[in-house]
Amino acid sequence: MKKFLLIKNKIKPFKKIINIDGDKSLSIRWALLASQAEGRSKAIKLLKSEDILSTLSCLKKLGVKVRFVGNTCEIKSKGINSFKYNKNLILNAGNSGTLGRLILGLLIHTKKKIKLIGDQSLSKRDFSRVTEPLKKFGASFKSNKKRLPIFVKGTNNPKPIKYFENIGSAQCKSSIMLAALNTPGTTHLKAKKSRDHTELLFKHLKIPIKIKKTKKFDLINIKGKEKIKPINYRIPGDISSAAFFIVLTALSKNSKLIIKNVNINPTRVGIINILRRMNIKLLIKNKKIYKGEKIGDVYVKSSNNVKAINCPSYLNSSAIDEFLIIFLVAAKAKGVSHFKDISELNQKESPRLYWGSKILGMMGIKTKLSKSSIKIYGNPNLKVKNLIEVQNYLKDHRIFMMSVIAALVFGGKWKIYEPNSIKTSFPSFLKILNKLKN
Ligand code: S3P
Repeated sequence: MKKFLLIKNKIKPFKKIINIDGDKSLSIRWALLASQAEGRSKAIKLLKSEDILSTLSCLKKLGVKVRFVGNTCEIKSKGINSFKYNKNLILNAGNSGTLGRLILGLLIHTKKKIKLIGDQSLSKRDFSRVTEPLKKFGASFKSNKKRLPIFVKGTNNPKPIKYFENIGSAQCKSSIMLAALNTPGTTHLKAKKSRDHTELLFKHLKIPIKIKKTKKFDLINIKGKEKIKPINYRIPGDISSAAFFIVLTALSKNSKLIIKNVNINPTRVGIINILRRMNIKLLIKNKKIYKGEKIGDVYVKSSNNVKAINCPSYLNSSAIDEFLIIFLVAAKAKGVSHFKDISELNQKESPRLYWGSKILGMMGIKTKLSKSSIKIYGNPNLKVKNLIEVQNYLKDHRIFMMSVIAALVFGGKWKIYEPNSIKTSFPSFLKILNKLKN
């Protein structure tokens, strides 16, 4: 029998302080960069989710030493280009697009053929966005119609490239940056704005990188490097995970929440900008900078009079993983909200634009959907009374968590399938929820 979570009651008012799991993007990047550093790197509060465990197991298969000492993850490597390429190597990226795409950038040297595989959801996603630029470095790829499984064969003699990344995909940008790190000469990358964790880590590690920012694009030059020093890091909380609790608090009655130590990198805080425009009461306190990343505590409380938004497209990339949960705020808003140029949402773990609109429909909210946009006709008095079943065929963690928050805020009886999906990004999600209930 397929497992599901049954929710029959709204959440009662709560006032709490919580910590959330570590940032997924930073955890994966730390591990991949540590695998290129000479010596022992350490991370505290690394996210221990399936995506990160997949990352660590891929690295182990490539000969990198990984161990946990208490709460600290240690990675010991011999440095750049020290991967061991065994015959018939198969790397499994599981559910993680970030791992699958970024690691390809590190494999452009492999002398032996490597097969990259992933789960059912990842096997539906486009990989040509990374294999096309990586081919220009000199590596060869064979894929299943741009999808996994992919076979990689590297080159002894990678050449730096000039590339225009026009999707606004941080995964694509970072994959190219990791390939450039292992390539003599200067790689020139023009990239549409997207999260900049890789750039900040490169700067912190003193990898020769130059960045010129224009309004829409970043011009990034990277010189290949021979040696990287180990990297010790304390991973901050993930704003994409915090987002579920921010919205739960904002849409519940008489509640207050403080979320400690969250990564508030400006390229990730689209949700904060969007929610403020929708009249949600949010503050960030105790701001500090940690190794180039901004960190702070998020204060949020129940908000009446939620306003609809005509969301400017320039905020899309900084909120790309948060739209599902933002749609719930739009469902409660007075007026019609409009989100445009978000076709990328259908390229995620499941087609989220489509499923987001389906779930709103089941809740009795009218939507108008196109390939790249959605209009949501909000209802401030929305009360769900019917039975809603969310099958979640592709086991999308964010579809699961969005549905749980919807059930707790709007009522009704919900059967939400695939509770184990939270293990990919936010294993403590249900535990933290229980803490708010007691
Ligand atoms: C990520 C980038 C985003 C995001 C994903 C994590 C990253 O994907 O959706 O969850 O860590 O680089 P794209 O780069 O494909 O937009």
